[in-house]
Parts: sequence; structure tokens; C-alpha cells
Amino acid sequence: MGARSIRLARAALREGGSDRPIDPRLRLVDESVTSGISHGVGHLIAEDHHLGGRLVTLGGRPMVNFGSCSYLGLETDLRLKNAAIDAVSRFGVQFASSRAYVSCPPYTELERLLRALFGGPVVVAQTTTLAHLAALPILIGKQDAVVCDQLVHNSVQAVLPTLAAAGTTCRFVRHNRMDRLDDLVRVLAAKHPRVWYLADGVYSMHGDPAPLAALRQLVARHERLHLYVDDAHGLTWSGRRGRGTVMGHGPPPPRTVMVASLAKAFAAGGAVIVPPDAETARLIRSCGSTLIFSGPLQPALLGAAIASARVHLSPEIHERQRKLMDRILRFNALAEARGLPLDRRPRRRSASCAAGTATRPSDSPRI
Ligand SMILES: Cc1ncc(COP(=O)(O)O)c(C=O)c1O
Repeated sequence: MGARSIRLARAALREGGSDRPIDPRLRLVDESVTSGISHGVGHLIAEDHHLGGRLVTLGGRPMVNFGSCSYLGLETDLRLKNAAIDAVSRFGVQFASSRAYVSCPPYTELERLLRALFGGPVVVAQTTTLAHLAALPILIGKQDAVVCDQLVHNSVQAVLPTLAAAGTTCRFVRHNRMDRLDDLVRVLAAKHPRVWYLADGVYSMHGDPAPLAALRQLVARHERLHLYVDDAHGLTWSGRRGRGTVMGHGPPPPRTVMVASLAKAFAAGGAVIVPPDAETARLIRSCGSTLIFSGPLQPALLGAAIASARVHLSPEIHERQRKLMDRILRFNALAEARGLPLDRRPRRRSASCAAGTATRPSDSPRI
């Protein structure tokens, strides 16, 4: 992707796209993506022969990559690379069987380490999106009600049609508005055995966290309230042992299911579901649709994930977290001193790593 794609995108914008009939909502998305491409900020491909985790070459110029979700830079760690190479040497580049039949050997060690990390049963999925597709239809019944935060990740919202088709009542609530959630739960709990609140641990667009302290109070007040939190962006850089914003700062609120990505700061691939008990984990593992019919994590990713889990279980992770936080605070201070505008909107309760403007979640202990 280079000057040619940018020229083509500009031409497409000038000409108003193709004549192919397209849904107006899709057209809107297409126009903003095409506009991003035409400004040289989307659909880029780095031009480097080797990557070190900090710079990417774009249009012939080395640039600092502030768009990386590998917040602790583990993807270039020699232990992770060697573990991936070793797994490929031993097991090949792929293991092309569904896990419903047989799994590649390193899964045993990865699941053992993740159980140790999260202190209970886990299910490993191939991506966070596929984890939601596997877990939500198992966890949520047709008599239940679902309340989605307006900004919960699209991969969670993508499961709503499946839930609605099964008969589940689905509602939205304004972003992080605990007062409105409280009202809605009160109404829905009068009619439904369980009310599920679906939220992100750290919201990927503005980097602000879910207000966990307030959620804990709501869960205490409403015994039918359950939480399902996508902490894809919270893992590794936050919390004890890098367990994330939901599980890393003391016990999570009761009746909480946490899902997190192993393909961002964890620096491997896949996702982990942390269900409330072994029986729920067993059900997700045996009946979750994408765990039955989709391909597994491949050996290289399993090897890297095992090495990353070992780093998480060692004191080193806290040293890395501290260094990251120092850098973020220094970046913020320097940006402020030079009058560089930062997105401070969610600052009151913010943890925006991706935007490089992080402060700690105010209701979580300090890292
Ligand atoms: C909060 C959140 N959840 C889920 C995903 C999707 O993750 P995956 O690519 O592992 O499906 C993303 C985006 O990358 C995300 O930001």
C-alpha cells in the first residue's frame, strides 16, 4: 500500500464511489475508510524487512508506531520468538483439526498456565470475536435480558442478532451511565431471571474504562445482574500479574464473566474466556459454536502464548508495567508542555493506552 492506493482512494472519493447499489450505512463506513486511505492513514502496509516493535516505515519514512496494541512490546521478546519457532519445529506450521476432535499438544500447557494466571477455569478461543460467538449464546438464555453499553465493542454487538433470534430481550444504555443502567436493570429484573450487562473493560475508541466500582455496587444491589466484560485492551499492561482491568485489581464483581485478547499486549494470538465455574467452562468448550467448527490456534501462536503466560506469572510483568506507565506520563507531560492537543475527554476515569494518553482507572488500585 503506497502512493498508488492513496491516488486510487482519492479518485474513488472524487467520483463518489462505484455505481453498485450499496446500503447507506455501508456507504457511510466505506466513505470514511476511503477518506482515511486518501489521507494516507489507513490500509497501510509497513515497508520494513525487519520490525523491532517501535518504528514502521511508511512511504519510505521511519515513523513511531503509536497505533500498536502491543503495549509492553512483548512481540519482539526473544523468549516468545524462540517458543514460537520451537513449536513450529516440533508441530509444523499448522494443526488442521477441530478442537472438538483433537488438539495440538501445547494447548495442555497453555491452559494450565492460564488457569494459574486467572485462578480458575478458562476456555481458550481463536480470537476475541470468536470467543464472544462461542460464549454469549451459552451463557445467556432466551428468558434473560441483555443490556449493552452503547460503545461495547462491535464484536460483542455482532452476537446480538443470534441472542435476539433465540428470544433474548436486548437493550442499549448510554455509555457508562450507571444511573440509567440501574433504572433499566430494575425494570428488566422484574420480568427476567437474569439481566446481563455487556461492556468493555477498556473501551477501544477512547480508552476509558468501565466504572468497575459502580458496577460492583450495582451487582450487590441487583441479585439478578450479571456482567460480561470484554477486557481485550486491559490485559497484560494492567493489574496484578497482568490479569487486566477487571481481574487484576482484587476479585472481580460477583457474577462476572471476563473475556480478553491474547493477540494484543499478550503478544501471541487468540483469546481467553474466564467463566464463573468449571461447569460453565465445560459447556462453552463443548457447545460453543466457534469452538466446534472453527480451526484452532496454530502451533507458533500456542508457543508464543505459553512463553508470554510465563512472563505474566513472573515479577517481570510488574516492572514492564511500571516502565510503560512512566513513559505514558512522560509523553503526556511533554505533549502538554509543547501544546500538543491530547484527547482528554475520558480523563476522569481513563486508561487510554492506544492513544498514548493514559491515566490509571480511578477506581482501580495503582499499578
Ligand atoms: C474491545 C475489543 N474486543 C474485541 C476485539 C476484536 O478482537 P479479535 O481481533 O481478537 O477478534 C477488539 C479489536 O481488536 C477490541 O478492541
